Amino acid sequence: MERWRPRKVVIIGAGAVGSTFAYALAQSGVADEIVLTDMDANLAQGQVLDLAHGLPFYPNVQISVGAPEDYRDAHAIVITAGSKQRPGESRLSLLQRNAHIIQSIMDGIQAQDSQAVVVVVSNPVDVLTYVAQQRVKWPRGRVIGSGTVLDSARFRFLLSKHCGVDVHNVHAYILGEHGDSEFAAWSISHIAGMHFDDYCQLCGKCEDWQAERDRIAEEVRTSAYHIIGYKGATYFAVGQALVRIVSAIVRNEKSVLPVSIVLNGEYGLNDVCLGVPAIVGEAGVERVLDLDLPSAERAALEHSASILKQALAQLVGT
Ligand SMILES: NC(=O)c1ccc[n+]([C@@H]2O[C@H](COP(=O)([O-])OP(=O)(O)OC[C@H]3O[C@@H](n4cnc5c(N)ncnc54)[C@H](O)[C@@H]3O)[C@@H](O)[C@H]2O)c1
Repeated sequence: MERWRPRKVVIIGAGAVGSTFAYALAQSGVADEIVLTDMDANLAQGQVLDLAHGLPFYPNVQISVGAPEDYRDAHAIVITAGSKQRPGESRLSLLQRNAHIIQSIMDGIQAQDSQAVVVVVSNPVDVLTYVAQQRVKWPRGRVIGSGTVLDSARFRFLLSKHCGVDVHNVHAYILGEHGDSEFAAWSISHIAGMHFDDYCQLCGKCEDWQAERDRIAEEVRTSAYHIIGYKGATYFAVGQALVRIVSAIVRNEKSVLPVSIVLNGEYGLNDVCLGVPAIVGEAGVERVLDLDLPSAERAALEHSASILKQALAQLVGT
């Protein structure tokens, strides 16, 4: 029988997203050990002390500053490390710098012979997940991106608010790129098993449901811009989304989540990472759900894939 070992989560990047995720994870009881690392050693040290002073109030958990050896026995490694855009810097140049960061992190993880599932969060998350996967060439399910889990949470929240129904009764998915070309997958979105069009008939509150649908999808797509405009970054909801993904991994929950994963023919797409519904368990993505989407949604997914492939081609061409 396999010996029990603590559920250990390593977070690389102790900035706004990494530290907020650590805080949410500590409160969740999902992990036994949380390890934070950052190229800024003082930042990592300060975050760990601040988090650890809350230990009397969390479920039992250890929180420490990490070293590369911590990758060895980790169950999940979450990468939130990234560079910010410098004044006057192009998006491509930022992408190149972040791709180099991800590659060197993946080299470090591989050097420790880690068996962990890696979750990439740094943006542009779909491109960087692909870069990470290409670097190590592990089974594709072991390197996943946070995909559209956060966007889908935003979608569920807005739908619940609009319909006046508990958010836990709303199952709804944003798919594709975590970014401008993402789209609302209405065909697989429900309230308590009812398609939204059917629920709308039942409810009868909206004057123009089609217009409301478009408005809600647009609000999801632009919400990160608004939050960044107000306060410079987004970190609370993504922290919770990461707890959800990591919980599925370390507790082998087999949860259906729209994470980013390299597609191998699903939806007719190859060699690109996109947010699609997948079953997530201890091995990472255990199965990609290749759904029979209606033609408009399939076209939207193909459009997202083409945008991401262009970004990858630019990266390779430099
Ligand atoms: N996927 C999502 O849904 C989602 C949501 C929000 C933010 N993000 C992304 O998460 C990333 C982090 O955002 P943030 O607000 O925490 O940024 P931040 O600047 O606060 O933190 C980034 C941290 O990474 C560290 N870092 C940089 N290079 C490193 C390296 N090589 N090794 C270790 N640490 C390194 C920096 O020192 C910094 O502390 C960004 O790319 C952001 O766009 C993704």
